[in-house]
Amino acid sequence: MSEKNKTFYIESYGCQMNVSDSEIVSAILAEQGMKPSNKADSADLILLNTCSVRDNAEQKIRHRLKELKQLKSKNNSVVGVLGCMAERLKEQLLDEEKLVDIVAGPDAYRSLPHLIEQAEDGKKAVNVLLSKEETYADIAPVRLNSNGVTAFISIMRGCDNMCSFCVVPFTRGRERSRNPFSIKDEALSLVNQNYKEVTLLGQNVDSYFWSGDGAKKDLQKTTHTKDVYTFDKLLALVAETSPNLRVRFSTSHPKDMTDDVLKVMASYQNICKYIHLPIQSGSNSMLERMNRGYTREWYLDRIAAIKHYMPDCAVSTDIIAGFCGETEEEHLQTLDIMNQVKYDFAYMFMYSERPKTLAERKYKDDVPEDIKKRRLNEIITLQQQHSAYRVQQQVGREQEVLIEGTSKKSDEMWMGRNSQNTVVVFPKKHFKVGDYANVIVKSATSTTLIGESI
Ligand code: SAH
Ligand code: SF4
Ligand code: F3S
Repeated sequence: MSEKNKTFYIESYGCQMNVSDSEIVSAILAEQGMKPSNKADSADLILLNTCSVRDNAEQKIRHRLKELKQLKSKNNSVVGVLGCMAERLKEQLLDEEKLVDIVAGPDAYRSLPHLIEQAEDGKKAVNVLLSKEETYADIAPVRLNSNGVTAFISIMRGCDNMCSFCVVPFTRGRERSRNPFSIKDEALSLVNQNYKEVTLLGQNVDSYFWSGDGAKKDLQKTTHTKDVYTFDKLLALVAETSPNLRVRFSTSHPKDMTDDVLKVMASYQNICKYIHLPIQSGSNSMLERMNRGYTREWYLDRIAAIKHYMPDCAVSTDIIAGFCGETEEEHLQTLDIMNQVKYDFAYMFMYSERPKTLAERKYKDDVPEDIKKRRLNEIITLQQQHSAYRVQQQVGREQEVLIEGTSKKSDEMWMGRNSQNTVVVFPKKHFKVGDYANVIVKSATSTTLIGESI
């Protein structure tokens, strides 16, 4: 059966890696002659690219599937579940919701054309095989809902870390790094299409490792050939694509972040001075139970190193409140480390137990819901103060802002980001989307800088 001229609609949940994966899925479907659509109502194929990281992420998708039920009976559309929830629940998803036709895990997207055919023939269409090699390196992503200025580039897949709370290693499989030259080519092609910023994506970018001769990572220290690419070398390679291309990356893991990476960041003007460095907890006993592989002292040393090489570097984090066995004292340690670092920004969550994880097998999810909530609120309140403090620190400074689009608040103003990833708005004048503007910051709201171009 030909898929030519059929339309597909895709919705992404969860992290940036899913957004990036949806662009790969779009490329695979476009190759079959299918057309992307931004309306679920009229699409022949509806895909949800899903997240399993917390229970509420899965609940949101279940709710969305129920909504889609009506649409499906009206239009006879094919419905597919992709991503982490597909990987976690496998064929169970077909039975549970009674409206899912296709289930495809994160490493199975090349088989989507076949799965669509199977579904159209009324057969069960499930592929959740994980791979040790798949990086989709040869697929040129179809940029969806793009502003034409910023884009994601996936540099690795999977995760080998086994943090005890985390489901990602189970849904994404083993860590593998993508060929650096295919990454460089993708950056170059984005430059040629006038993109101005790329974000390199991986669950733990500091653990990026690629060796031309196939040498294994454990031999990293002994094989020092010039064919070996670690993250610092990859960063430099991408930064050299063009001085007009800004480079960002996410996520850095505190245990693996080296001074070499910081030195490369400091030496290239076009590598943004911003690091997302999730702490999760400020208490050593908690970090141990979380199996994070670092202590608070190690973490603070990494922060000191960042500030040493790049005094103006912004730092953001992730924090979990109420993980197994968390005492009041341990919680206070988290507030204490927040006070020491004063993060520019943070993503903050209540612990949500995930099936199959180390924590589910080994520890009791024993912090009562109301205490989890109260601790999370304390963390959020403190972070609001720190964000405001960091934003205020930038007032009066001159900054280079990359214009992403019109400000949501006013048609007369541009919205962009500075190197530190803070949103800056300023009067449009002669500038256009994709321009770099030098802006002097005049004032700030709690999260946004307001300036004037010079
Ligand atoms: N690879 C990244 C994190 C990816 S998941 C890293 O190691 O930093 C994004 C964030 O979700 C995590 O940093 C963590 O703060 C949060 N998270 C993961 N599992 C969780 C769980 N079971 N409950 C609550 N938050 C969780
Ligand atoms: Fe999950 Fe830890 Fe891997 Fe991040 S590093 S994806 S938190 S297991
Ligand atoms: Fe969610 Fe999977 Fe990302 S669990 S956070 S979509 S890797």
